[in-house]
Amino acid sequence: MTKNVGVLTAGGDTPGLNAALRGLGKSAMYKYDLQLVGFYDGFRGLLHDRSILLDDSSLSGILTIGGTILGTSRDKPNKMEVGGKLQDMRDAMVETYHKHHLDVLVCMGGGGTQKNAYSLMEKGLNIITLPKTIDNDIANTDVTLGYDTALGIATEAIDRLHSTAHSHHRIVVVEIMGHNAGWLALGSGIAGGADVILIPEIPYDEELIAQAILERSRSGKHFSIVAISEGAISKRAKKRETELLEEKRNETDKEKKRKLKKALEEFYASQTNRSQELLQELERLTGLESRMTILGYVQRGGTPSARDRLLGSMIGGSAADLIAEGKYGVMVAIKGQETKPVDLETVVDKRKLVPVDHLWINTARRVGTCLGD
Ligand code: F6P
Repeated sequence: MTKNVGVLTAGGDTPGLNAALRGLGKSAMYKYDLQLVGFYDGFRGLLHDRSILLDDSSLSGILTIGGTILGTSRDKPNKMEVGGKLQDMRDAMVETYHKHHLDVLVCMGGGGTQKNAYSLMEKGLNIITLPKTIDNDIANTDVTLGYDTALGIATEAIDRLHSTAHSHHRIVVVEIMGHNAGWLALGSGIAGGADVILIPEIPYDEELIAQAILERSRSGKHFSIVAISEGAISKRAKKRETELLEEKRNETDKEKKRKLKKALEEFYASQTNRSQELLQELERLTGLESRMTILGYVQRGGTPSARDRLLGSMIGGSAADLIAEGKYGVMVAIKGQETKPVDLETVVDKRKLVPVDHLWINTARRVGTCLGD
């Protein structure tokens, strides 16, 4: 019996999404008798029923293209801005699902998308998710789609920064994406040979970083590359954050709790420029000229790596297998060389951070990289 499959891509785009759409769609068409409808711009397209029938021609020629042919957005089904207000729009999305007589909705996305998809599952929809984010921070999968490409881009950037830092005898601070996980900064920092790597999982001490840089200078290396994850935090700031969070958690008085909430908001607002502040502090402590490079969105743009094309094709095709079997409520995880369905409950509201005893951390330390602690 023909099954009807809906698909959407949500959250930040990543290279390899089109490979996953193609993998899903072509397997659905050639191997199984499945009809595929794509919704534009994540959950918003599902809400407004902005859709397209995905057929052989719309899925051809997209394997190597970055971004997502469906578009994406960061909308949350249960807290969506509609008519200037945040509203729970899940019932309207359920209506679209039934209007298309869908048997399942495939959602490709990061941690937020896994949660949003789960919230639709709670409304009775059959859901399959695919893990994608350059941050590599989704729980219960070895790796996420898009990470490999971003890792390559960030590594190449660090390579390129070396020659200019070396020529000018400068410190170059390079800010790398990754949200609150250090996978991208750590991986590219090791691969690119950064001298200092700062990740959110290991709060840093500016004085120790300056010492490491001065030590390099004394040994005749008059430049340093500092790879800092966008979520990295100083020991001092981490201590303040922990204190505020604890005080707020333990406070029972409503008014005092409100004040602590405000203090926390102010604290986070004061933390938006950490890389620049670190740069200034390093310049002051070392007396060395310093420059900043924020890699930003180039990390998720452009052509997917061969690995991400492969991963996308694999997880997309595996999703088609699961649909044919009728196995729903799962994410297609990547485990070793295989794909494996894992219950969505084991993924939602969890984040895969870099364990501080991870081999990559030891690897960095073994080659003398300063991790800021
Ligand atoms: O989750 C992927 C990511 O690129 C993060 O690394 C980054 O913090 C975030 O998205 C940026 O979000 P936006 O695209 O909404 O600016």
